[in-house]
Amino acid sequence: MSRRNLKYIVGNWKMNQKLSDIKDFFVSFNQVKAELHCHSWIAPQYIHIPILKELSFTLGNIEVGAQNCSHKTSGALTGEVSPESLFDIGVTFVILGHSERRQFFAENNQGLSQKIKMALDQNLKVIYCVGETAQENEERKTFTVLKEQLSVALQSITSAQNLLIAYEPVWAIGTGKTATPEIAEKVHTYIRQELCQRFSEGEEIPLLYGGSANPQNISGLFSMPNIDGALIGGASLKAKDFIQMCHASRPFARI
Ligand code: PGA
Repeated sequence: MSRRNLKYIVGNWKMNQKLSDIKDFFVSFNQVKAELHCHSWIAPQYIHIPILKELSFTLGNIEVGAQNCSHKTSGALTGEVSPESLFDIGVTFVILGHSERRQFFAENNQGLSQKIKMALDQNLKVIYCVGETAQENEERKTFTVLKEQLSVALQSITSAQNLLIAYEPVWAIGTGKTATPEIAEKVHTYIRQELCQRFSEGEEIPLLYGGSANPQNISGLFSMPNIDGALIGGASLKAKDFIQMCHASRPFARI
């Protein structure tokens, strides 16, 4: 996987969207898809995955992902979703370690290391999310937090093939407070250094920024050398905004 050619526009739809919203989204996307030069990915709620796969096949050309998965492939784990089954139905990627999972579902770096390994073993691409809270940021602990999140959660893997990292400062998620391109680039550069120490492919790992990214601020973020894409919540729900962000990534495409 190379980070160099096309930017990644990844929609994290969280617990949103009705069937009618999804259909409208794809009808709009279908009209412009031929003009776009980026990786267009969406992670909907689990129940909507088959519908997105179908719409993507007929209309959209969008890669479909999941927002989480189990640390096991199968077995007595009521309510969990297996990475093997996700791959089986055509899911190509999974978001792991999102701050909402850490905050509301007690996910931690140790447990995430098992999930990351299992998902990669099942041939899914993994977007592993890292980022500091507002308090950690104020206390200037950003790099310490990131070092821990990266070293513990990535300890179980020796190859970074199919791995992407999303830097999502928790204070920027859903708040309208985006990190400036310069701040985001500084942190991405740090993450890149950490990854290069750990993996021979470190230079190629796509690094996405997430946290109130939107059509207005995305070009500034994309102009930075270590920002290879964006993980987008609120602004990915409407086709118009999603498409605008895809268009904004075009000048940075190397085709
Ligand atoms: P946001 O969410 O774009 O709404 O801030 C990003 C995310 O949580 O991945």
